[in-house]
Amino acid sequence: MGLFYDTIRDIVEDHERAAIQDEKPAKASQGRTDLISLAVRSGALSHRDLVEEGVYMTSAGTETLIGTTTWAMNLLSRHPEVPSRLRDEIRAHIPSPYDNDNKDGVRQSDLRQLPYLNAVMNEVLRFHSVNGFLWRECVEPAVIAGHPIPKGTTMTFSPWALNRDPRHWGPSARAVGCPTRPRAGPTTPIQLRRLAGGPRRCIGENYALVQLLCVLAAYVGRYELAPLDGLQEGEGEEEGGGSDDGEEIGSDLALTLLKVYEGWQVHVKKLPGW
Ligand code: HEM
Repeated sequence: MGLFYDTIRDIVEDHERAAIQDEKPAKASQGRTDLISLAVRSGALSHRDLVEEGVYMTSAGTETLIGTTTWAMNLLSRHPEVPSRLRDEIRAHIPSPYDNDNKDGVRQSDLRQLPYLNAVMNEVLRFHSVNGFLWRECVEPAVIAGHPIPKGTTMTFSPWALNRDPRHWGPSARAVGCPTRPRAGPTTPIQLRRLAGGPRRCIGENYALVQLLCVLAAYVGRYELAPLDGLQEGEGEEEGGGSDDGEEIGSDLALTLLKVYEGWQVHVKKLPGW
């Protein structure tokens, strides 16, 4: 953790030095526009706050995204009908990022408008919620499922378990099923499916969702994924082919971030035409 703090501190100091340089008139037009530079120049945060925020953002915003992306690749590699349909949608609506003639790029709204891409992302977030457990403190006495909970009690709950609970998601809750997943009913903890809710919800939510859509579109549009040795659903779990029953998390269950621990290998093939 010390190394992590030191690294973020170095980055912040580098931006602080650059901000001082940028104040000189000759350099003003060269000012950096990245997030840390903007925060430094706003003057709203002390040096210590900048480092703390940097550490918090980096730790909350990297493994969550990387873990979710890895699970997406895992699922897509073992359910080939999904990436196949997804690729058709992406190629029909999103210009290839490898096309040098496309000067306009891709807008967030382009990605958000693709129904199947969004359905796939939502299903990955539901089925492989990287948040195994979250905590809340009761600020007033409550009764939950018939149990009286005194004020001040710390409650633990599992988004991962809730997101696989047939009471919320129907009888197929324990199977991954992007195209067929029923819409959330009125009692479904819909926000838990994704990035929590309420005042402590994920502040990186919009950024995270757009980044996930972007990575999925770029990757699936261009590449085909398949488990090593052509293993499909339910096959070869011992050999690293993966499964849908959560075995990949291994015996060392991570407390908060569920990730692929015990090895998982995939074939990646570049496809022509995009
Ligand atoms: C797929 C990616 C992500 C997932 C699944 C995720 C999930 C979550 C969840 C469930 C919480 C609520 C924790 C709680 O209720 O106690 C949370 C909080 C938070 N997330 Fe994310 N997150 C993701 C990406 C990001 C990114 C990209 C950033 C920053 C750039 C970020 C920054 C934060 C911060 C700072 C908090 C704490 C908010 C607070 O306590 O007020 N997250 N995230």
